[in-house]
Amino acid sequence: MKGLLYYFSGTGNTKWVADILKKYFRNNKIDLELLNIEKVEEIKLNQFDFLIIGSPVYAEMEPKIVDNFLNKLPKCIRNLKTIIYATQGGKSSSAPAIMAKKLKNKGYNIFIEECIKMPNNCYFY
Ligand SMILES: Cc1cc2nc3c(=O)[nH]c(=O)nc-3n(C[C@H](O)[C@H](O)[C@H](O)COP(=O)(O)O)c2cc1C
Repeated sequence: MKGLLYYFSGTGNTKWVADILKKYFRNNKIDLELLNIEKVEEIKLNQFDFLIIGSPVYAEMEPKIVDNFLNKLPKCIRNLKTIIYATQGGKSSSAPAIMAKKLKNKGYNIFIEECIKMPNNCYFY
């Protein structure tokens, strides 16, 4: 099995989670390729069995760069299994549900929507 994880990470939290996921999948003999969406020129999903999208949360939403990327993702005709996760300073946010709705409308099979609490890079208590 081979998966693809697209992420954006302004200060490293979302990438840190991506690295942990890669490690755990590898332990289960599943290959996970990580791609920074800032560097993606062409979106290729054909050779992958599942997709993961990771994003930080800006004001409860995914940042514009992630939103643009979601808009660019092609319509999915093979019901590709997809996981969405967001990292944010709070316990939860509405970003994964908002992202999931967009991708469900394109035919992706979203089976996990997860919020992961991480250090807040916007302000400190
Ligand atoms: C402009 C901005 C807005 C943010 N808004 C929220 C927010 O609404 N809720 C929240 O819990 N965290 C918020 N955060 C914190 C980040 O989502 C959090 O630290 C995230 O893990 C950063 O991920 P990254 O290091 O991969 O960029 C915000 C951060 C920034 C820079």
